[in-house]
Amino acid sequence: MADPLVLLAERAAAAMAAIDPDGGSPDPVVRPSTHADAQINGALALAKRLNRPPREVAEALVGALEVDDLCLPPEIAGPGFVNLQLRDDALAAMLVDLSGPRRGVQPATDTATVVVDYSAPNVAKEMHVGHLRSTIIGDALARMLGFLGHHVIRQNHLGDWGTPFGMLIEQLATSGSTAEASVADLNAFYRQARATFDADAGFAERSRARVVALQGGDAESLALWRQLVAASESYFSDAYRRLEVTLTDDDYAGESTYNALLDPMVADLEAKGLVVVDDGALCAYPPGFTGRDGEPLALIVRKADGGYGYAATDLAALRYRIEELGADDLLYVVGAPQHDHLAMVFAVATQAGWLTPPRRAEHIAFGSVLGPDGKMFRTRTGDTVRLADLVDEAVERAAQLVAEKSPELDPATAADVASALGIGAIKYADLASDRVKDYVFDWDRMLAFTGNTAPYLQYAHARMCSILAKAEPGDLEAATPGAVRITEGAEHDLALALLGFDAAVHAACDRRSPHRLCTYLHDLATTYTTFYEACPVLRAFDDDLRRSRLALCSLTAGVLATGLDLLGIRAPDRV
Ligand code: ARG
Repeated sequence: MADPLVLLAERAAAAMAAIDPDGGSPDPVVRPSTHADAQINGALALAKRLNRPPREVAEALVGALEVDDLCLPPEIAGPGFVNLQLRDDALAAMLVDLSGPRRGVQPATDTATVVVDYSAPNVAKEMHVGHLRSTIIGDALARMLGFLGHHVIRQNHLGDWGTPFGMLIEQLATSGSTAEASVADLNAFYRQARATFDADAGFAERSRARVVALQGGDAESLALWRQLVAASESYFSDAYRRLEVTLTDDDYAGESTYNALLDPMVADLEAKGLVVVDDGALCAYPPGFTGRDGEPLALIVRKADGGYGYAATDLAALRYRIEELGADDLLYVVGAPQHDHLAMVFAVATQAGWLTPPRRAEHIAFGSVLGPDGKMFRTRTGDTVRLADLVDEAVERAAQLVAEKSPELDPATAADVASALGIGAIKYADLASDRVKDYVFDWDRMLAFTGNTAPYLQYAHARMCSILAKAEPGDLEAATPGAVRITEGAEHDLALALLGFDAAVHAACDRRSPHRLCTYLHDLATTYTTFYEACPVLRAFDDDLRRSRLALCSLTAGVLATGLDLLGIRAPDRV
C-alpha cells in the first residue's frame, strides 16, 4: 500500500484502540493539513466520550502511536490535534510502488460487472451537447472502472425506435436521396421532415401509417429504417473516433434491441400486479412519486394505441442488463432532466424484483452546457451545435496555438499535437467541474495554457518529457524510483503529491466524479512547478541528486499521463 495517509490512518486507528479498549473502532480522522503532512483529529471526539481533557487524550494517543519508521516525532497542536510529518527516507521508499503502468493504483477489492449506459444519441438527429457530455463523462468513468479491475460493459442506448421514425422514413422514401446523404446534415434532414410533416397533411398521414407498418414488420419500411440506422451509426462512430472515445460498433444496443423483450417484460409486470389500465394505457404507479397536484405519477408502460415507448424500452433494457449481461452496477450517464423518468424506471424494476440489492442502478446526472450568454449552448441560428463542427473548431484553434508555441514541429506532429490539445481541452473542460453543475462553454478558457485546463497539464507533461530527453543516457537509466533521495521541502511535497494518485483515482471512481481526478492532476502539476523552480534538475552537480530529481520528473510525467489517459486525454511528449 503506497498511500502514506492510509498507512498513517491504520497506525492511528491502532493507537486509538489501544487507549480506548472498549470504544469499538473509533475513527482517528486522519487528514492532510496546512501545518503537517497529516493530522489526527480523532482525539477530540474521544476526549469528549471519555470525559477527559483533549490534550491529555492527545498525549496518550502519541504515547501509543507507533510511527517511528514513517514519521518524525509527532507533535500536539491546538486543542488536541496530533500533527505528523513524514520522514523523507520513508517517503522516498514508498515511491518505488509507483513504478510500472498502474502507478501505485490498487485494483478495487470488490470487483463488479458494471454496465455503463452512455452517449445514446438519436438516429437521424444531430448529437447535441448533452450527448457530448454523456459521451465524455461516460467514457472517463468506463476507463476508470476498467482500470480498477471492474468488468465494464458499455451500452450505447441509441434512440433508434419510436414515432419520429414514421416521418423520417417517409422523408427518406420521398426525397430520392440516399441515407448517407441525408445523414450528412442531420439538422437539415430532421428539420425538413418536421416541416413537411407539419405542412402536408398527406405526408403526415403516410408518416403515421409508416410507424404502424414499421412496427408490424413491413419489409420496405424496415429496409429504409435500417439504412437510416446504419448511416447514423457510421456517422456517430466517426465522431467517437475523432473524439478518441472508447465506444465501438459492438457497443450499440439501440432501443429496438429490446423489441422482442417488451411483451414478456410487460407480462411479468402484469403477473406481479404492478400495472393497471388507465385511460386505455397500461401504467405503473411506483410508490413515492407524485405530481405537483399530489396525484400519483404514472410510468406509461404501454400506450393506449398498444405502442411501447421510452419507459417500456428502459424497463426491458434494465432487466436484460441484469439477467443477460449479469450487471451488478448499472450506471446511466444521462442529463439531469431525465431524473424522474429514471428514478421511476428503477423503482418499478425494484418492485418487480429484477433490481435487488446488492445490485444497484445509479443515475449519473449532469448539468447543461451554457453559451457565453448563460443560455443553452447553441449556434447563432439557434440550432444544435454539430459535434463535428465543435471538434473541427477545437482542433483548428489548438493548431494556431501550436504554431505560435512550437513553430519547429513538423506538420504531421503539429497536427497530431493540435488534435490532442483541442480534444483534450473540450473533454477536460467538461470533466473538471462537478458534473451535476452547468458549465459555460468558453473556448479561450478551455484552451489556455494556464489554469485548470488540459493544455496546462499537457504542457507540464511535455516539459517533463523534454527534460528527460535532454538527460545523459547513463543518468536516465539510473533515474529509477529507487534512486530518489529527498532533501528539499519541494521534493518532499512532490513525493507526497505523487503518492496521492491511488486515492484520487479511487475517489473519482467511487463517487463517479471525474473532477476529483482533474483537481488532483492540477494540484500535482502545480506542486511539480514549485519543485522545478526550487530544485535544479539537469544542472544539479551531484550525480545522485541529478538522478534523484530526474526520477521525480519521470514519475510525475508517468502519473500525469496515466491520469489524463483515464480521462480519455492524450499527453504527447511535445506540445
Ligand atoms: N436517447 C436518449 C436521449 O437522447 C438518451 C438515452 C439515455 N439512456 C437511457 N437508457 N434512457 O435523450
